[in-house]
Amino acid sequence: MPGSADLERQLHLGIFLFSLGYHPGAWRLPDVDPRASHDPDFIAGIARKAEAAKFDFFFLGDALATSAEQQYVFPSQTVRLEPFTMLGYVAAVTQRIGLIATANTTYADPYHIARQTASLDHLSRGRLAWNVVTGADPRAAANFSREQHWDNPRRYDWAEELVDVVQKLWDSWEDDALQGDKAAGVLVHPQRVHTIGHEGEHFQVRGPLNVLRPVQGQIPLVNAGTSARSRAFGAARSSVVFAGVPTLESAQAFYREIKAGAAAQGRLPQDVHVLPGLVPYVGRTREEAFSLYRRLSELIATPLDIEALEQQLGVPLAGLQADSPFPAVDPHVPGLALARHFVAQARLLNQTQTPTVQQVFAYGIARGRGHFLAIGSAQEVADTMQHWFEHGAADGFNICPPHLPGGLDDFVDLVVPLLRERGLFRTEYTGVTFREHFGAKPAPASRYAAPLAAPAAVPAALTEVHHRLDDVVRRGV
Ligand SMILES: Cc1cc2nc3c(=O)[nH]c(=O)nc-3n(C[C@H](O)[C@H](O)[C@H](O)COP(=O)(O)O)c2cc1C
Repeated sequence: MPGSADLERQLHLGIFLFSLGYHPGAWRLPDVDPRASHDPDFIAGIARKAEAAKFDFFFLGDALATSAEQQYVFPSQTVRLEPFTMLGYVAAVTQRIGLIATANTTYADPYHIARQTASLDHLSRGRLAWNVVTGADPRAAANFSREQHWDNPRRYDWAEELVDVVQKLWDSWEDDALQGDKAAGVLVHPQRVHTIGHEGEHFQVRGPLNVLRPVQGQIPLVNAGTSARSRAFGAARSSVVFAGVPTLESAQAFYREIKAGAAAQGRLPQDVHVLPGLVPYVGRTREEAFSLYRRLSELIATPLDIEALEQQLGVPLAGLQADSPFPAVDPHVPGLALARHFVAQARLLNQTQTPTVQQVFAYGIARGRGHFLAIGSAQEVADTMQHWFEHGAADGFNICPPHLPGGLDDFVDLVVPLLRERGLFRTEYTGVTFREHFGAKPAPASRYAAPLAAPAAVPAALTEVHHRLDDVVRRGV
């Protein structure tokens, strides 16, 4: 399968941080610290390891609600740090790796997001991208004084306008607005700072922002989602679209749709990068990888829910126990494709012709949110990545190690060198900014930039400003 790679086009790789591992049982491994998600040394270690491997980005997802019960579904997402705070720290302990911060649009004001993102883009010297999410967790509503989580169309109507406002605010300072002209006494050129005067359906925002234009001018957008609206958003506006696709065929269909949608918006195929999640179980041999999978399966604390499994797979399971053989699945019924996939994987990974109900259940737990599990020798995992890359399924991967830190070490030490040998992945960074890592052109000048008639001068009268300052002094603020 591997052949000579197209040297022009290379894989983009990022770490998708699940501090306790993507596999829900991984936190019970002896070398995993259950408090890792809140440990600055652990976080710095992962970011530096990914940077030493020349990864494009370090990505942190986010949600606005949790519960203790969630530990049985996705322990890594049960409790974690706030992304902008964490990435401010990661920016300080790294130099080159891109940073993707998640900010939820449904419970936010654009001025806040514009400030946070612009600030972090400066602190990281242009390494930021914003993962735009409208919120996968409806429980967030109860934490933000709302009766219910909005439906998908309302969330995306709001998000589209919110992103417009954020992008205008980023442009409210022209690149050279801060002149620092000591001789003339002009710090900020008044004609290069702009109100945005946004009057929309959801937002009325005057501006300007109180942070300089981001280093990247316009910070790249990233998004992921399953709905038609989220795919349309990604095709039209994102630089990177994440996908949660379990098979090559579903990845190819997703890839085609995003690229076609981008073309319909007048964008080039390379303007938007499609990055499926990939969960690498890597061993020096295939057997080693399978045994890692089985070891993690034994650590699953999620109680077996026969009814839920029955509903998910469409196979009657009433009366069966964890150690009962899983019933035969009709090979011809199209609606049973997922069940066939689960059973085939449970067979292969457990090296048995007759997997038990628990073994099929365990595969579903390992699959988590539906990202692709690549299980095999380093050679096999590299082959699969190359195949996806060269067959219209991926421009790179969002790497979700099943356990940390060892799962990242294995991927970096065993798979990345093979990708490099094949010319598929960089050996050194060629740029600093997120845009540069993805080969994107610099952003155009601020939309508010206009040729200037005269150099900046100290205005004769500043009546309005003086009045405001007087007021501040009077109130003793
Ligand atoms: C790789 C990946 C990462 C995601 N990260 C987040 C996240 O951090 N926060 C979140 O609320 N949703 C996240 N999602 C979920 C989607 O952004 C989206 O909200 C969800 O699929 C609901 O679909 P919709 O937005 O299309 O309605 C992620 C999805 C994928 C595939």
